[in-house]
Amino acid sequence: MQADTSAIPAGAAPRFAGDFHRPRYHFLPAANWMNDPNGVIQWQGRYHLFFQYNPDGAYHANMHWGHAVSDDLIHWRELPIAIAPTPGGPDRGGVFSGCMVADGGIPTAIYTGVSEGHSVQTQCIAFGSADLQTWEKYDGNPVISEPPPALGQRRDFRDPFVWRGADGWYLILASNIVGVGGAVLLYHSPDLRQWTYRQPLYVGDKARSGRNFECPNFFPLGDKWVLILSAQLQHAPATTLYFVGRFEDERFLPEREGVYDAGCSYASLAHQDESGRTLIYSWLREGRSRAAQRASGWSGAQAIPRVLSLDTKNRLISQPVPALEKLRGAHRRLENGAEAAIEIDTLALDIEAVFDAEAAARCGFTLDCGGDKLTIAYDRDTSALSIEREYAQANAELDSEKQGSAHPLDRGEPLTLRILLDGSLLELIANGRTRISSRFYPADAGGSRLRVIAPGAARAVDIWEMASIW
Ligand code: FRU
Repeated sequence: MQADTSAIPAGAAPRFAGDFHRPRYHFLPAANWMNDPNGVIQWQGRYHLFFQYNPDGAYHANMHWGHAVSDDLIHWRELPIAIAPTPGGPDRGGVFSGCMVADGGIPTAIYTGVSEGHSVQTQCIAFGSADLQTWEKYDGNPVISEPPPALGQRRDFRDPFVWRGADGWYLILASNIVGVGGAVLLYHSPDLRQWTYRQPLYVGDKARSGRNFECPNFFPLGDKWVLILSAQLQHAPATTLYFVGRFEDERFLPEREGVYDAGCSYASLAHQDESGRTLIYSWLREGRSRAAQRASGWSGAQAIPRVLSLDTKNRLISQPVPALEKLRGAHRRLENGAEAAIEIDTLALDIEAVFDAEAAARCGFTLDCGGDKLTIAYDRDTSALSIEREYAQANAELDSEKQGSAHPLDRGEPLTLRILLDGSLLELIANGRTRISSRFYPADAGGSRLRVIAPGAARAVDIWEMASIW
């Protein structure tokens, strides 16, 4: 069912009609800047997504919580801003990221309020009306006012994630220990208002996982617990990592770790819906200059929400919600190498491909848009999955570094690729467990060609044109 989009006709706004870089089946606000998903919750049956939003333009400043609602996780209706900074309050400099819980039937947002140019970060709570549109801030804010002194720093202390334990509430925060690396801090409370610091839930190592963490999530999945965090790496773009392990006596015992997404996906946020599925949302960052973002009038988009699970080796599997398939329109199937290249006239595609990866040294796809070229390739001998972007006219304003991830296949396992292409956005998922999100901004979208690399190795390739959600 298509949600009523009468409130704000978001993606369809005429000013963006000719902008083929702008996604059309991924959520993004009607205009301006968005980053992290916040406060995701299924409330009275409907999915609510809040997000970091700047009402002033397509740049990061003046953070508010934007708000959108959906019945199916695909069609979204943008609602008025939910939470704004309060002059004189602990969030006067911005309402940063956080989460939402239902506390005895009262929707409660827990977020970071910043002031003094983001250098003071405190944790605040706000109570929502039944429609989640009117928010009243707790008069005892902030509920956590400063980092534990032992960390040696007073600045990075944000992005609360809360869950209910057997005996009260737990909260984790992203921070760091000076000279050591990122840290996730564990707190406990009987009532969401009085918090006691317990200890670090997880401490990273500066050389491997960076100086600071952001946006931690911690939740049970199957019979394990999963920690997902965003890591500000030292010499590489910030990335999302995951850890699978046990949670015993308030201690996390990691048993496996991996990269959640080796591309532009960041600040993921998970929650459990009423049917018991664990869903994850992520911000897809831009790969173009700040000036280009401002000039276009929009920046950032939301990944298609995904369902999380663990496979038998406890690797984290994520699959786009099945409701996405409702957007599939015109369909092409390429079989057994019969056809190696097709013309495409829209940059809104959903592709499912199965390759016999043993049958060729390299397999995958190239997308050629008038000389600007995107290559998604799997290399049999190195087990590396990669994305390469080549622009016909060298353009320092666009990200073009090679993206990649190791993707070892199990014995006899075919390579399966799911590719969601939407304007400048690309979500790539291999065998459910290796993810690379990317941005590609061709100068021209007309007359594009999609070509299969090593068509003889392709068992089946299905390509659907995707409808707009607006
Ligand atoms: C992650 C982040 C969070 C912060 C928010 C501010 O992208 O930096 O740590 O709360 O964005 O917009």
